[in-house]
Amino acid sequence: MKIGIIGAGNIGGNLTRRLTALGHAVSVANSRGPETLTALAEETGATAVTVAEAARRAELVVVTIPFKSVPDLPAGLFDEAAEGFVVIDTNNYYPRQRDGRIAAVEDEGLTESRWTERQLGHPVIKAFNGTYAQDILDRHRPAGAADRMALPVAGDDTAAKKTVRALVEELGFDSVDAGGLDDSWRQQPDTPVYGLREGADAVTKALAEASPVRPEAFRG
Ligand SMILES: NC(=O)c1ccc[n+]([C@@H]2O[C@H](COP(=O)([O-])OP(=O)(O)OC[C@H]3O[C@@H](n4cnc5c(N)ncnc54)[C@H](OP(=O)(O)O)[C@@H]3O)[C@@H](O)[C@H]2O)c1
Repeated sequence: MKIGIIGAGNIGGNLTRRLTALGHAVSVANSRGPETLTALAEETGATAVTVAEAARRAELVVVTIPFKSVPDLPAGLFDEAAEGFVVIDTNNYYPRQRDGRIAAVEDEGLTESRWTERQLGHPVIKAFNGTYAQDILDRHRPAGAADRMALPVAGDDTAAKKTVRALVEELGFDSVDAGGLDDSWRQQPDTPVYGLREGADAVTKALAEASPVRPEAFRG
């Protein structure tokens, strides 16, 4: 698949490593420009590009940057993406440590991914947001392995969610359908499933046990 990754930090870097290893054609971008990504490109065979170029002809785009930076992404970002392209949102809102208070999330009660979707102007599928970046490299397992972890995947577009779940499974994790984007508070920071290193049954149970009340530590 032709994949554009916007954000080359902990998550974007490790997704670049694994997705190139699996044979995908990956373009990767950060905020400072492709000349700062030569080491990652040489290591993985990915193409370092500008943000504006990252989604060009991409069938899948991963947005994996600080939550507060999503509105800074250029307008028209997806204008040249492939028909039917899918967007993965890995982002989390950390109002106290990093992102500052974002009124639409706090006051309107939007899920984090619904807010991101509105900024991007394209539906998103929420995945990897509760996955430790290092686990992407270290904890992938073949299908059927006793210790294979499962990751929740939420989104409204059935076909897009199917694509993302297939990619999660190709990356070495089971996937659990975590419902639509309005249900995705169940996998936001400080929920039982966030960072959980368990299989599908435990992930399903943890999603069901989540509280809709945003924890105090995650209020701006
Ligand atoms: N770390 C984890 O284990 C983890 C796990 C799950 C989810 N997440 C979430 O996933 C997202 C990424 O996390 P991370 O830990 O990978 O972050 P990170 O290590 O801080 O990396 C952030 C990346 O985003 C880039 N970036 C920032 N603003 C940008 C912009 N306007 N345009 C393009 N690129 C931009 C940065 O580029 P420059 O370096 O050039 O500025 C950097 O490559 C966050 O929302 C985080 O909460 C993280």
